[in-house]
Amino acid sequence: MRRKLAAGNWKMNGTPAMLAGVGALDADAGCEVLLCPPATLIAQMTDHAKGRITVGGQDCHPLAGGAHTGDIAASMLKDAGATYVILGHSERRADHGETNATVSAKTLAAWDAGLTAIVCIGETLETREAGRTLDLIGTQLAGSVPDGATAAGLVIAYEPVWAIGTGKVPTLEQIAEVHDFIRAALETRFGAEGTGTRVLYGGSVKPSNAAGIFAVPNVDGALVGGASLAAEDFNGIIGALAKA
Ligand code: 13P
Repeated sequence: MRRKLAAGNWKMNGTPAMLAGVGALDADAGCEVLLCPPATLIAQMTDHAKGRITVGGQDCHPLAGGAHTGDIAASMLKDAGATYVILGHSERRADHGETNATVSAKTLAAWDAGLTAIVCIGETLETREAGRTLDLIGTQLAGSVPDGATAAGLVIAYEPVWAIGTGKVPTLEQIAEVHDFIRAALETRFGAEGTGTRVLYGGSVKPSNAAGIFAVPNVDGALVGGASLAAEDFNGIIGALAKA
């Protein structure tokens, strides 16, 4: 059984004042709740979470340490209280030129530090309109996830780039097609560990559309941006996932 996961990605948003909302999250609804704030807030958020929710980072460096100004090592996230790290988000692929190989190296670093890696993949609108979505998803998955993945160490987030922050959401059929494809690829490569690996949908998930998305087979939860910033909105999504 895959434990359902409602994950919030605060991106480059968040102030200490917003941590008050952590206590208001519905952590007992029946699914795992994770928040990934900016690295500066991980330790404080971990205190506020009191073990009710899990906390994660949004990126790590592929190396364990050294002369890399401005970067953060996976072990540092862990020391601060994180148990997860988001890797290869499309914003990092776009803003920082991260390739599948970069994401794979970062995933290994995350595993070395004992973190669960949430590896993000997803197509642009151009790729979808060219009918190449599944090709690209297959390539990203193969290149971004290293050998040796386990269900405990890996979560996949399918985030169509054109659905992020736009209010546009793929049809439920489109979501199903990609999630089924990802599940099959994980099982082919990792066997039972692939069956146990959670696959999240991300991109404009709101309380109003969450129940429909969570009813799609092979959707094990969501990676939520904007709607994770306010506890009331995120609780709406958590509640829908718990009932799915
Ligand atoms: P939105 O929920 O704001 O569309 O962001 C999705 C996302 O990128 C989560 O990582």
